[in-house]
Amino acid sequence: MADKTYENIKIVREGPITFLTLNRPGKRNAMSPALHYEMEEAMLFLATDKATRVLVLAGEGEAWCAGQDLKLYFRETSNNPEERRRSNASSHRWRWDLMTTFPKPTIAMVNGYCFGAAFTQLCACDFAIAAEDATFGLSEVNWGILPGGIVSWNLTDMMLPRHALYYATTGEPFDGKRAVELGLVNFAVPKEKLREETMKLAEKMLKLNPSVVRYTKEAIRAVRGMTQEKARDYLGAKQDSLHRADKEIGDKVGMKKFLDDKSYRPGLGPYQREEG
Ligand code: COA
Repeated sequence: MADKTYENIKIVREGPITFLTLNRPGKRNAMSPALHYEMEEAMLFLATDKATRVLVLAGEGEAWCAGQDLKLYFRETSNNPEERRRSNASSHRWRWDLMTTFPKPTIAMVNGYCFGAAFTQLCACDFAIAAEDATFGLSEVNWGILPGGIVSWNLTDMMLPRHALYYATTGEPFDGKRAVELGLVNFAVPKEKLREETMKLAEKMLKLNPSVVRYTKEAIRAVRGMTQEKARDYLGAKQDSLHRADKEIGDKVGMKKFLDDKSYRPGLGPYQREEG
């Protein structure tokens, strides 16, 4: 069945890799209430869509996402508390709740402008690859607000507090290479290689046991902020739960292939999966 078509976003498939693209290039993919509602619906659908095994969050045109739409999200809802609350909740749900709990690997493919509120979905994706000349910025200070929603929290979670303070209070833009130094993205590549490099990472993830990848990413996020004692307890329980959920029984397969068959070295790469 064909994917639903939307006004502000689009779903494009490359085999098991699904590109979910913000599609308001004329507005630099600024996020309107309507875009949030569509994204929430699409993210919910793709989470359980069997054909999607890796999700790439992309931006149409020259921007990745210019943050919230100052006109449609802020000004036009300023006298409409109902719509403000509804769009604010939806915005948070897809950019953080649904993205951080997405059961398959997620990659932010940052082609261009990434401002303000867009940092939340950037940090929510498991991986981020940027064009070297992409422009990032905490522009809030330039127009009279602070990095709200959870952007200030995202900044201190992802980058050193010294950098978070600097970029949030100066509003100074920075490029993809600097974003790597700051810990905001994994790699920066020439723009013409962005899609190819994103596909390479997606394909790498497809070779791994999906249950183990899912439980690992959940564990890495969950242990942030836990005490060492709680983390140890949680990780023990999480491993037991992975053992029950993993249809591939990856640990047994991995050990057999290494110790008995001597067919691979776990230190150097994954075992060859039957499917995938
Ligand atoms: N909200 C609403 N509209 C936006 C927008 C935003 N965040 N970002 C861009 N647009 C709109 C512009 O108003 C313009 O609309 P128009 O053609 O109807 O006039 C269109 O997108 C193109 O923007 P423009 O500024 O002409 O493009 P540019 O390529 O010269 O500059 C940016 C791009 C992203 C640098 C610039 O638009 C900008 O600074 N946007 C605001 C970014 C921001 O501060 N976001 C944080 C929100 S929390």
